[in-house]
Amino acid sequence: YRNLRIALLGAGSVGSQVAALLLEHGDELAQRVGAGLELVGVAVRDPEKHRDSGIPFELFTTDAESLIVGADIVVEVMGGLSPARELITLAMTSGADVVTANKALLATHGPELFELAEQLGAQLYYEASVAAAIPIIRPLRESLAGDRIERIYGIVNGSTNYILDRMDADDLAAEDAQQIALELGYLEADPTLDVEGYDAAQKAAILASLAFHTTVPLEAVHREGITNVTHEQVRSAREAGFVVKLLAVCERLVDPTSGEEGVSVRVHPALVPRTHPLGAVHGGNNAVFLEAAAAGPLMFYGAGAGGIQTASAVLGDVVSAARRHVLGGPGVAESTHANLPVLPIAHVVTRY
Ligand code: NAP
Ligand code: HSE
Repeated sequence: YRNLRIALLGAGSVGSQVAALLLEHGDELAQRVGAGLELVGVAVRDPEKHRDSGIPFELFTTDAESLIVGADIVVEVMGGLSPARELITLAMTSGADVVTANKALLATHGPELFELAEQLGAQLYYEASVAAAIPIIRPLRESLAGDRIERIYGIVNGSTNYILDRMDADDLAAEDAQQIALELGYLEADPTLDVEGYDAAQKAAILASLAFHTTVPLEAVHREGITNVTHEQVRSAREAGFVVKLLAVCERLVDPTSGEEGVSVRVHPALVPRTHPLGAVHGGNNAVFLEAAAAGPLMFYGAGAGGIQTASAVLGDVVSAARRHVLGGPGVAESTHANLPVLPIAHVVTRY
C-alpha cells in the first residue's frame, strides 16, 4: 500500500505534539494501519517561530491550500472559525478525510460540515474537540448508539478547572492560576473563551447534539463563566464542605407547560460536595458522567487539556482515518433526526 499523505494545519500546543508523535512513532503506527503515514507539511502563520521546534523546517509552509490538495488526511489544529472552516471544506472537496480538535468550529458550523462530509462520502473525526484525551465522542457516536442517553454532566474545561482548583487548594489568585494554565498550554488563544464559559458551552453543544441525536445550536446553551467567582466564595464553599466547579449539564426534560419533550443544555459555576467524584477532579482534568437508559451511569475521567494529551486523541482519529483508507468502509455517519427543541433555562430543576 502507498504512503498516506498527512497535512497538518497548525503547530501550536497541540499541532507541535501531533507532528512530534507522528515523526517519532510513524513506523509503529504504520504497522497498526498497514500503510505508511507521511507528514507532508505543516501550515502555520509564521514558520520562523518554528525553526528550533525539532520538526524539519522544510515541512513548514504558510500555503495551507496547496498543502491540502493531494493530502489523504488533513489534521486541523489551528483553531478559530476562519480560515479553518474554508480549509476543512477544501480538504473534504479534495477527497481527504479530516481530523479536527476545533470545538468552536463544530459548535458553530458542525451541521453544515457534517452534511458536506455525508454528501462527499468523507469522514470528519473530532474526538479531541471535547475533553481532550478522554474518549467521549467515539463512545457516544458508536458504543452507546443503541442506548438512550438521558443526561450528561461534568467538567469539560481544563483551564477553568485548573484555575478554580488552584484558588481552592493553594489560595492562589485567579490571575496567577490563569498564567500557569497558559504556560501549561491549557488556555485557548483567546482565554476569554475559557473563563467566560464559551469553550465549555461549545463542548456541551457538541455532546448534547451527539447524545440526543439532534442539533443544539450554540446560542441555545445557557452560559455563565467563572469571572464572577471570587476568592471569598471559593473559601466559604470550602468551609461548608463544597468546591466550586464549572459544570456543563445536558439533559432530556419535559416542558411542564406544554408536555413537550426537549433538551436543556447549560454551563455555569456550581457548588459540588467535596465527597462527590466531581469534587475530586483536580488540575486540568475533566470528568464526564452520563446516564443511559440501559447502560446506567457511566463515568469518563482524564486529562481535559494539554498539548500532548490532546495529540493522543488526534492521533487516534488519524489512525481511524488511515485504516478507512486502507480497508475501505463507510465510516460513521452523524444522526440528527430527533430534532428536539432546546428548552429555556426556566424549566430546569438541578439535582447533582
Ligand atoms: P495554538 O497553540 O494557538 O496554535 C495554533 C496554531 O495554528 C499555530 O501554530 C498557528 O501558527 C496556527 N495558525 C493559526 N491560525 C492560522 C492561519 N490562519 N493559517 C495558518 N496557521 C494558523 O492552539 P492550540 O492550543 O494548539 O489549539 C489548537 C486547536 O485545538 C484549537 O481548536 C483548540 O480549541 C483545540 N484544542 C486545544 C487543546 C489544548 O489543550 N490546547 C485541547 C483540545 C482541543 P503560528 O504558530 O505561526 O502562530
Ligand atoms: N482550553 C481548553 C480547556 C482546551 O481548557 O479545556 C481543551 O479543550
